[in-house]
Amino acid sequence: MSTPPDAQRMEKIVSLCKRRGFIFQSSEIYGGLNGAWDYGPLGVELKRNLKNYWWRVTVHERDDVVGMDGSILTHPAVLKASGHVEGFSDPMVDCRACKAHLRADQLTEKKGVKQCPNCGGKDLTAPRQFNLMFETHLGAATDESSIAYLRPETAQSIFVQFKNILEVSRKKLPFGIAQIGKAFRNEINPRNFTFRSREFEQMELEYFCRAEQGMEFLEYWKEERLRFYENIGIPRSKLHVLTVPDDERAFYSKGTYDIEYDFLFGRHELEGVAYRTDYDLSQHQKASGKSFEYFDEETKQRFVPHVVEPSAGVDRTVLALISEAYSEDQAPDEKGKMETRIVLRFHPRMAPVKCGVYPLLKNNPQLVAKAKEIISLLRPHMTVFYDESGAIGRRYRRQDEIGTPFGVTVDFETLGEKDFALRDTVTLRDRDSMKQERVAMQDLLAILRERIT
Ligand code: GAP
Repeated sequence: MSTPPDAQRMEKIVSLCKRRGFIFQSSEIYGGLNGAWDYGPLGVELKRNLKNYWWRVTVHERDDVVGMDGSILTHPAVLKASGHVEGFSDPMVDCRACKAHLRADQLTEKKGVKQCPNCGGKDLTAPRQFNLMFETHLGAATDESSIAYLRPETAQSIFVQFKNILEVSRKKLPFGIAQIGKAFRNEINPRNFTFRSREFEQMELEYFCRAEQGMEFLEYWKEERLRFYENIGIPRSKLHVLTVPDDERAFYSKGTYDIEYDFLFGRHELEGVAYRTDYDLSQHQKASGKSFEYFDEETKQRFVPHVVEPSAGVDRTVLALISEAYSEDQAPDEKGKMETRIVLRFHPRMAPVKCGVYPLLKNNPQLVAKAKEIISLLRPHMTVFYDESGAIGRRYRRQDEIGTPFGVTVDFETLGEKDFALRDTVTLRDRDSMKQERVAMQDLLAILRERIT
């Protein structure tokens, strides 16, 4: 049976991610750790660009949002109050034939009979609840009293610190608290590369408001988040907003949207935007006995604020960025013969390396010196890559494959050898159009900065 085109494309992406150092399987040399991934030199830059841009537009460019960075180790009382200890579970069944542990909602069905998706076996155990939280012990004792959890979402530390942050930031409603950080879930079936992992990162905003503003801010944040994805190069046509039906929403939520993306393995959630009402703060108020009330100086009222939460996955967005960027086209090789070119068409804002710098010949000290001068000029402002080895076309291809949007070549015209008027000019190549323009070295930084921010 031949592999469908999207699966083939997915295989190519996974292979490129390894070959060029975006994403590796965790503990690969020991057979791999299921549901965990390591980001290589380019992956970590891509991830950072994403997180930095989210932080910039969510925190730095707004007056009404502040940030925090909470601990991963979480007091069990926090997760009891939030409902995670009791209810953060997936229904699980075991296949008695192949011994697979399966999520009950991922079984296949034939003529109304549930089957194991691995072996087709029909001898399945009854569903039982499996808690997804990772439990650990603090200190030397390993009894009930020392239990702690690795947080299953970053949100709870925001709720728990709400009062402290309100006091120190002196914000008035509506205002938000943002956090980017790791979360852990013992997923029954980690799958689809990094899409469903056991260790992953979230970018979460808890936006506190008055009860009567909840629905309005739910709409507002859904639109803001869609705009965010467009601004990092994920087109609106590949994004879909699912209104989560009443019977599938958390019981305390008055409205939830899933922002979905057309991954190569199907349409799946990238982010949830949920109006969580005053549930979380009220739960922590009740359980801790500490007030989470906000005093409105204008109306002299005290109340527990409501919250709207846009919660995005870093790893899923990185995967969407890579999937969206991957393309193959035809480009001439050294001898003018057309060959297949792999290009990651990242938005320049997201690209791990912004500019390649190439002296035309590596054995010409003047060309090399000029190229290194350009590296020193650009490096404080962006990630650059110096490459002097191989034919210039090959060097371009290597950067195209990792998505470097711009390339600067230092040639004999830069040295003013052919025409003195061209001295200290370089060619600036665009990855997507492959067009080259001649620019003055003194204008280069300003031109590139404008295109990458
Ligand atoms: N605080 C709300 C919350 O955690 P969620 O829908 O469970 O909501 C939010 O998670 C986002 O976190 C998801 O939309 C997804 O992008 C990411 N995420 C959740 N579980 C994940 C997993 N196992 N692997 C990778 N990303 C995950």
